[in-house]
Amino acid sequence: MRVLIIGSLAGELGQAARMAIARGAKLDQTESLEAGLERLRNDGRFDLVLCELAYDIAALVAALAAERMVVPVVACAVNPDPEAAVRAIRAGAREFLPLPPDPDMIAAILQAADGESHVLVARDPVMLATVRRAEQIAAAEASVLISGESGTGKEVLARHIHRRSRRAGGPFVALNCAAIPDTLLESELFGHEKGAFSGALARRIGKFEAADGGTLLLDEVSEMEPRLQAKLLRAVQEREIDRLGGSAPVKVNVRILATTNRDLAAEVACGRFREDLYFRLNVVALCIPPLRDRPGDIAPLAQHFARHYAEVNGLPPRSLTPAALALLAQQRWRGNVRELENTIHRAVLLAAGEAIGAEAIELIGERVPPAQARAAEPRAEGVASLVGQRMEDVERQLILETLNHTLGNRTHAATILGISIRALRNKLRDYAAHGVAVPPPPAGVATPFAGVEV
Ligand SMILES: Nc1ncnc2c1ncn2[C@@H]1O[C@H](COP(=O)(O)OP(=O)(O)OP(=O)(O)O)[C@@H](O)[C@H]1O
Ligand SMILES: [Mg+2]
Repeated sequence: MRVLIIGSLAGELGQAARMAIARGAKLDQTESLEAGLERLRNDGRFDLVLCELAYDIAALVAALAAERMVVPVVACAVNPDPEAAVRAIRAGAREFLPLPPDPDMIAAILQAADGESHVLVARDPVMLATVRRAEQIAAAEASVLISGESGTGKEVLARHIHRRSRRAGGPFVALNCAAIPDTLLESELFGHEKGAFSGALARRIGKFEAADGGTLLLDEVSEMEPRLQAKLLRAVQEREIDRLGGSAPVKVNVRILATTNRDLAAEVACGRFREDLYFRLNVVALCIPPLRDRPGDIAPLAQHFARHYAEVNGLPPRSLTPAALALLAQQRWRGNVRELENTIHRAVLLAAGEAIGAEAIELIGERVPPAQARAAEPRAEGVASLVGQRMEDVERQLILETLNHTLGNRTHAATILGISIRALRNKLRDYAAHGVAVPPPPAGVATPFAGVEV
């Protein structure tokens, strides 16, 4: 976790910096916007920028956007003018941090920027076999394609491979190919030279160079447009990249891991994904089974999340009752581990007593049907009450309600709804444009910029 501080460390911001270091963050600091931008251009590994409100936050956010750099900005100030704080958020700052800092808020901001927790829990024999296979090939240099439904733990497994590899001392850099618009993705991957496009005021390195000596995770690689697939193929094949507007290729020493929640072989078959790239990425294939096919993981994961979210929320540790565990075991978990995680997070907050009982567990998913009923057609119960409503309205309600259930997580909601992330995002953008309140993305999911994702 790398944080760039733009401001003076002499006062309360220094206190925030010390808290961030105590939580494991690595810091860099400058006292001017220009110097800050220069650091960001030369080092693609920053996860967060903490910038004093006295600086022109709007100019910083605009410069990042113009130079196609994707990193969240948090504005901070002592006794801020409320108007200025609101302006910073409107300008695209992710968050506002009042100083002197509150340790819990620092922790929440760091956790949000760092993405999700990286502990890997596995007990079910089916999952243990996958983890063992991953550990077996971790030390090799081969590219690995990790597939699995959304929320099964592909990124968690990728980080595990990196930790067990010979590159563990090097950087682990992840790039979500689906979360970044095509226009920004190329520069995120390969960087650019000064003058490559109208906002490119100086050279900037991309994720390939940032991951030099370590591992690059290309998350949701199936979402990449064909033109970029061709460029990626060259980078993977030659281990060299061309910065946008560059005249000479740059050598890079990276190991590539990629994830997909689509069937990439099927994407190849229907011409949406390059076959040559598929073979390059898929030297070793790891497939993470859905949670419903590894029931032995449900209880250990639930207990792990109960401990984790009690700690994060400053609550006393509470265990799950046998009734709660039995209820969890019956669910289908279409959103996989992420859905279980959100469910337990909510249960930790809702539980009243010393333990987390079944009443604290709110579920929307279907239960796993008894074996004999499995072949039967699903019933249309409940749909009758919708007759009389417009299709569009029902769809909007369903989308927003599902998003509430997933605590704002777009990927998970799209999976439950059975639509692509892009389709979901377009719908949400449309709703927002018509004044409909859309649940914000969760704290744990990195959203590069207001405007990039609704
Ligand atoms: N085996 C596991 N142990 C502990 N936590 C896990 C495990 N698998 C998944 N998680 C948690 O579940 C959430 C989803 O995991 P992850 O992001 O790795 O899934 P994913 O397959 O990459 O999902 P998506 O396809 O939506 O990107 C994360 O918060 C992660 O920490
Ligand atoms: Mg992922």
